[in-house]
Amino acid sequence: MIQIVPAPKKTTFFQRDYAYNGETVRTSIDILLGEEEYILEVTSEDGITIIGGSEKAVFYGECTLEQILLQNKKRIRAMKIEDEPVFRYRGFMIDCARHFFTVDELKAIIDTMARLKFNYFHWHLTDDQGFRMQIDALDKLHKEGSVRLGSHFGGTHSNSKYEGYYTTQQMQEIVQFCAERYIEVVPEIDVPGHATAMIHAYPEMSCRGRKVPVETRQGIFKNILCAGSETTYEYLCKILDEMCRIFPGEYFHLGGDEVPKENWEHCSACKNAMKENGLESYEQLQAWLMNRLAAYLQQKGKKVICWNDALKGENLSKNFIAERWMDRKNLTLYWANSGRKVIMGDFYHTYFDYPYAMTPLKKVYRYSPYLKNMDIRGKESIEGLECCVWTEHISSNAAIEYMLFPRAAAVAQTAWGCGRENYAYFESALKAFKPIFKRNRINCAPQKDWNPLPHKRLGGVVKLLVTTLKGLSYQPKA
Ligand code: ACM
Ligand code: ZN
Repeated sequence: MIQIVPAPKKTTFFQRDYAYNGETVRTSIDILLGEEEYILEVTSEDGITIIGGSEKAVFYGECTLEQILLQNKKRIRAMKIEDEPVFRYRGFMIDCARHFFTVDELKAIIDTMARLKFNYFHWHLTDDQGFRMQIDALDKLHKEGSVRLGSHFGGTHSNSKYEGYYTTQQMQEIVQFCAERYIEVVPEIDVPGHATAMIHAYPEMSCRGRKVPVETRQGIFKNILCAGSETTYEYLCKILDEMCRIFPGEYFHLGGDEVPKENWEHCSACKNAMKENGLESYEQLQAWLMNRLAAYLQQKGKKVICWNDALKGENLSKNFIAERWMDRKNLTLYWANSGRKVIMGDFYHTYFDYPYAMTPLKKVYRYSPYLKNMDIRGKESIEGLECCVWTEHISSNAAIEYMLFPRAAAVAQTAWGCGRENYAYFESALKAFKPIFKRNRINCAPQKDWNPLPHKRLGGVVKLLVTTLKGLSYQPKA
């Protein structure tokens, strides 16, 4: 029995087997197949052939073959695999703002994700605790916005300087590395909230115009970009220009999550913008800001994504693709059912910054991107799925790998082959995937940690709550 993760659409086994001597696999392209569709055949007469709808599809056939060869080195059962994904967008997000991961560390993760047939790397590059992109037009962003004077997250309290940013060349290197694996980089600049590091570098982008330190704690902060000031747009467009030169992909993420509007309520520029543009609420002001930036990006051919929080402004452009993560008002459901695009995820299932005690592997595997009451149009509006790893509590490469793997494989399973196999198949296919983790030196969580017993789950969740609350109430010395 051959087990593949993510599970292929259809596998037919034949009685004979084939003696594989390491000879070349014959690959070809048939444009009648889908862009990500491939047929892999192992026959005793012709050896191994892969036909794909594109070079990318052939690559996916090769990824499948790699797993077959890892399970059967010499004699391979004759078979035919016909495969294609359920969802076209299969993403993973890494937060490199709270903690910084080196190019080599990212490459090991990206290569592993490619073998799981993920095709989008959403790179969260800016947040309150650090701005991590070189931007030559506004160089204080990376020179000053990338440095914070301590880290007070959860149970960790350090007063050491923490810094790091990706140079243009390094970002291009990641783009190229991803492209070689048919992964597109989706860069994110998070606006107008989570912007303390930007405001530290350029206080004129905020309502009060005052310098603030780069955040050293976790949370949601009221220093947000001023929506009424033309300087904000002028600076943001310069940043977007540079990001578009570095990241040639189709998708672009503008953030838009967790935006406390308090400072806008006391800002004459923000109030004027509301009056002049007939905006009735601060949520509409946020949507107006994001619409302006999205229109700018759309002129450059981008498809723009926002977190589901931005849907609260009823005037948000219908062209936005909403990324769902937590949506108590079910605005994502409304968005999808009215035919607008969505990318699905869920805080309780696809957020891997939380321990296995809270989000065990089985729970991730069981995640369904179909919301209750989603109609046919809504289901058709799903571009795909994304898992996220936020890094307030994750400061080392070993830790991020442990949190990501193997849970990301369960998301890959849903994104590529939703409903095709059962959990038992998935777990044993994961064992067969182990050599790929090993080859990339991935610190995959051991099987004993994947699904903790109920008492351990409770203990783990309590511990998480206590350390998070301690972190939130901690006041660093001035
Ligand atoms: C988010 O987790 N704040 C998108
Ligand atoms: Zn303002």
